[in-house]
Amino acid sequence: MLSWDDYENNTEDTAVVNDAALQNLKAEEQAASASPTAPLTPPTAAATAVEPAPVAAAVEAAAVTTATAAPIANTESTLDEVFDVEENRERVTVDQKAMINCRADLNQLVPFKYDWAWQKYLDGCANHWMPQEVNMTADIALWKSEDGLSDDERTIVKRSLGFFSTADSLVANNLVLAIYRLITNPECRQYLLRQAFEEAIHTHAYQYCIESLGMDEGEIFNMYHEIPTVAKKASWALKYTQEINDPTFNTGTLETDKALLKNLIAYYCVLEGIFFYCGFTQILSMGRRNKMTGTSEQFQYILRDESMHVNFGIDVINQIKLENPQLWQADMQEWARAMILEGTELEVSYARDTMPRGVLGMNANMMEEYLQFIANRRLAQIGLAEQFPGTKNPFPWMSEIMDLKKEKNFFETRVTDYQTGGALSWD
Ligand SMILES: [Fe+2]
Ligand SMILES: [Fe+2]
Repeated sequence: MLSWDDYENNTEDTAVVNDAALQNLKAEEQAASASPTAPLTPPTAAATAVEPAPVAAAVEAAAVTTATAAPIANTESTLDEVFDVEENRERVTVDQKAMINCRADLNQLVPFKYDWAWQKYLDGCANHWMPQEVNMTADIALWKSEDGLSDDERTIVKRSLGFFSTADSLVANNLVLAIYRLITNPECRQYLLRQAFEEAIHTHAYQYCIESLGMDEGEIFNMYHEIPTVAKKASWALKYTQEINDPTFNTGTLETDKALLKNLIAYYCVLEGIFFYCGFTQILSMGRRNKMTGTSEQFQYILRDESMHVNFGIDVINQIKLENPQLWQADMQEWARAMILEGTELEVSYARDTMPRGVLGMNANMMEEYLQFIANRRLAQIGLAEQFPGTKNPFPWMSEIMDLKKEKNFFETRVTDYQTGGALSWD
């Protein structure tokens, strides 16, 4: 491979090669200009001179420019200007890197400062999956049968798909349009790009379930506008995107740095860390009862990705706190606590709305206890005291599903001749 240093030494050779290649391309394009609509006999020299082919015209124009342009020696100085080489530029060091407001070059991935972020990127890639790998046949039969599911179970499936099908788009948009620009660390950005793709896969998975089950797409995708307990969760998160997604918004002041931190807490600790948990628990409980096993398997893959998203976000939040202690004073700590508790309340309302009575071995009170258990964890993860001391987890099987090390047979149902990419062809 040609190195940057070699480039300087080989400029002349490269120019010769490029010149030869250009001649070949020119000949090919001229041959191609004899299109099927052109006369079968070759055009005469006179005809070519009157109406030159576009390539010939371009070459002619270039020749005119060269003739009137400055001598070749000046081309080198133009190249220098284009490359803007700074001979005394310092190389990026680990110490210069920071989570926010970093001035070091963001185009250089290494040297790593946050090895955990790179490791999460690698782990995310190692867990790659696609929705079409999951067999939906049993779900389709069950969904279409008259007495396969109770009305309450059907409501749970529809509400889950309704909430998640748009919620993952909210997360993806928040990542790409709001926080990516403001997180000034290349290894974290690498993970954010991976996460953004995973969110696209999740939205794809929900769409795949909705399509497979033959649901009314308009009804499902509009739930975040039309069903109050779904809409409240979506609009709660959206206000934190709107606060920072203005292209003129920038961090660097106490106020704007706090706005970014609030957004991260809203999305990682609340939206992905609490709002997903009632729906996930309900659908996975269905799968444990051998109902909607394909949908449940999709949710299982998604939950595995989501628990990594939450862990990554919490690491980012804690790193920002560490590097910017002025942001994590009593007011911000109270704000963060209030956000997590508000989120818990909204999720409890969603649980009551989707479970007016006991269903699938659970009820709204049990879900409230579970959500308090989750809220305690989110508070503790960002260094705040638990709000509901002594709360137990009524669904210990959820922790088992989330514990990746115990998922030995997770890929048992995966198709064997899985293709990760299409073949390239020049035809
Ligand atoms: Fe997601
Ligand atoms: Fe996520």
